[in-house]
Amino acid sequence: MIEDWRRYPHIVLFTGAGLSAESGVPTYRGRGGIWHEYNYEDYACQRAFDHHPVKVLDFHELRRTKVLACLPHTGHDHIRAMQAAHPGVTVITQNIDGLLQRAGVTVSAELHGSLWRLRCPVHGIREDAAAAPFAYRQCPDCAPARQTWLRPDITWFEDAMNPAVFARAEALVAAADLFVGIGTSGAVWPAAGFAHQAREAGARMVEINPEDNEASVLYPENLRKPASTALADTFPISR
Ligand code: APR
Repeated sequence: MIEDWRRYPHIVLFTGAGLSAESGVPTYRGRGGIWHEYNYEDYACQRAFDHHPVKVLDFHELRRTKVLACLPHTGHDHIRAMQAAHPGVTVITQNIDGLLQRAGVTVSAELHGSLWRLRCPVHGIREDAAAAPFAYRQCPDCAPARQTWLRPDITWFEDAMNPAVFARAEALVAAADLFVGIGTSGAVWPAAGFAHQAREAGARMVEINPEDNEASVLYPENLRKPASTALADTFPISR
């Protein structure tokens, strides 16, 4: 337990798929992980989208359907309460599922984008969060003859991260006094680099993950517990 966690002016909660696991959203590399069932080269890269837009959109629609059937859990709620108790708590997420936002958490950087936005190369970003099926698969603002497929606003494999989002996260991590890695395997770069950056900047490093993983060496404190209980146990909020 970090009884006096509020004495840290700048706290970064860096989250991954493990934070959503207890809500029923599959992780990527754990048991039943998405990439065990689907090859990202067929479903989550620009090349696949260029060749098979319908197949890629179907895959993401399926993910939207699964996520909408899930609810945020007590861990998400505790993060919201931490933000209410301390304005210095910021959240950087690799998750595209929007569960943090559904729990009322303010997310400062969505490193890998969102399942609930699409992009048109001409008209830019479209919010599309009303229902699991996409409202449009082709841009309604483009001339029908163009048949512009709308691409999920997600940082897929081989994509560069949105530079503005990256810069925002980098600035938050540079200022972090306490960096908490929650439910991430640290397998994917450049996102995994933020834990290295925080450590080099001298932040107190705490990991919440039931399992040891390649990023664990960066964290002198490893809480081998699920996020839903570890957050409340570690960061008590006295009424
Ligand atoms: N609480 C906390 N951590 C958990 C829980 C839980 N209840 N359940 C599983 N975990 C941990 C696993 O032990 C694992 O280390 O969550 C981690 C999930 O790892 P990944 O599936 O690799 O997910 P993540 O680290 O978020 O992946 C990074 O890879 O596929 C890309 O873009 C995708 O954002 C994703 C990125």
